[in-house]
Amino acid sequence: MTELIPAPRGAVAGSGEVRLARHSRLYADTAGEGVAHWLSAALRQSTGLPLREGRERDDARGDGIGLRLAPGLGPEEYRLVSDRNGVLIEGGGAAGVFWGAQTLRQLLGPDAYRRAPLGRDRAWTVPYLTIEDAPRFRWRGLMLDVARHFMPKDGVLRYLDLMAAHKLNVFHFHLTDDQGWRIEIERHPRLTEIGSWRTRTKTGHRASPLWEDKPHGGYYTQDDIREIVAYAAERHITVVPEIDVPGHSQAAIAAYPELGNTDVIDTTALSVWDTWGINPNVLAPTDNTLRFYEGVFEEVLGLFPSEFVHIGGDECPKDQWRRSETAQARIRELGLADEDQLQSWFIGHFGTWLAERGRRLIGWDEILEGGLAEGAAVSSWRGYAGGIAAARAGHDVVMCPEQQVYLDHRQDPGPGEPVPIGWVRTLEDVYRFEPVPPELTPGEARHVLGTQANLWTEVMEDHARVDYQAFPRLAAFAEVAWSALPAPAERDFAGFQRRMTAHYRRLDALGVAYRPPTGPLPWQQRPGVLGRPKDGPPPHR
Ligand code: ACM
Repeated sequence: MTELIPAPRGAVAGSGEVRLARHSRLYADTAGEGVAHWLSAALRQSTGLPLREGRERDDARGDGIGLRLAPGLGPEEYRLVSDRNGVLIEGGGAAGVFWGAQTLRQLLGPDAYRRAPLGRDRAWTVPYLTIEDAPRFRWRGLMLDVARHFMPKDGVLRYLDLMAAHKLNVFHFHLTDDQGWRIEIERHPRLTEIGSWRTRTKTGHRASPLWEDKPHGGYYTQDDIREIVAYAAERHITVVPEIDVPGHSQAAIAAYPELGNTDVIDTTALSVWDTWGINPNVLAPTDNTLRFYEGVFEEVLGLFPSEFVHIGGDECPKDQWRRSETAQARIRELGLADEDQLQSWFIGHFGTWLAERGRRLIGWDEILEGGLAEGAAVSSWRGYAGGIAAARAGHDVVMCPEQQVYLDHRQDPGPGEPVPIGWVRTLEDVYRFEPVPPELTPGEARHVLGTQANLWTEVMEDHARVDYQAFPRLAAFAEVAWSALPAPAERDFAGFQRRMTAHYRRLDALGVAYRPPTGPLPWQQRPGVLGRPKDGPPPHR
């Protein structure tokens, strides 16, 4: 009927339509005011209608839009009624009203996503209907890696709009890695002076012989971050920052060599990494490193109000710690068994530090090794196993298994895929992804906060490449995260594809460079650039 993505919980069609006109008004109660500002700005741009804002609903004309809170609905739940009184969106909280406003935009047709009217005389109509809707999960995430390839601020704001259009509500902002440090830290200016750029970049997989011999870099000032966080908040999106420790830290060590294992290698010789893979140059487990990163996190907490702060914790090779007298002395002093426990101690330090400041630590599933502090949560990326173990141990989990929802992985087996990485994960595969593993009891499953798709950008050098990997699969992912879908085998993929026909027109209007169902366009291919496809189906669990 309405070709909505993600599919709502329930929709009942009426007969007739609300026709927006020059005198149509947009009414909102106090709680709906912020959403009204967003909606009137979006619809004024696309329709050219004035949509004057007011406080009182005038039902008599039947062509207005009303936004208000309704007691009894959940915070993100909404009801949208379009009938002879006009369009009324009621939400349990402002977030619910906002998701209802996103549904309204879809109901108005693809041109409602343009930034200016097309100049043709046209009617803007909403069919009579009633929609009742609420999300399945409270964490509907997208992770964007801006460290491997920097995405300038405008691109980040654009991604927040794309997330909002798909009712995604957690932006996991991967801000630091071996290849770049992207957030200004006032007390440690070299993190961005030195750490935010590299002189050259590997083109393709690390085994590729090709280089791009030009500097690459960029970072967000603290004001840029404030703007991003505020822009996200207007869209009911929480930004969860990630500062990766103790691995994935070569950019920071290049800026401040004393952060590295100076008794093992000459850390002054390190520069921001220009290629890809798991890097042996990790942080030294010293008091100096702890104090340095406490300073970083103090500034991070001042910028990001989110409950969760991501500390990475993945892929930390222990070789330098094995060879470091300083690290070994720390292991003895703390009475630890080995280097894995040293990592656990390092993560635990920041878990406690964050908890003392009213925040919660989240990290990649490696942080489970060696035990995890109460209240900490896990991003389960190496499959479902980490998430299952975490949930059984009473920790909250975000399910983002690489076998299922790493959108850097190729979406078709064909030879034309640009820089093919990983397993083939088609639109249908993502549509049939199930975030909650069946082995969890209902009580354990309550620890699954939700799910997240991850965009690692080693082979995505600009926003068109990010769009290509993200779309259309992010639309399928959004439905998995939002809608109450049946078990994977029973999902109506054919029906989803039919709705995608309308959704591609929305993505066109938004200027999204998605992968067409027929395959990449000539300029979306990267002939001659080596990828690293993995054969066969992904290991299931
Ligand atoms: C990861 O993909 N290393 C979290």
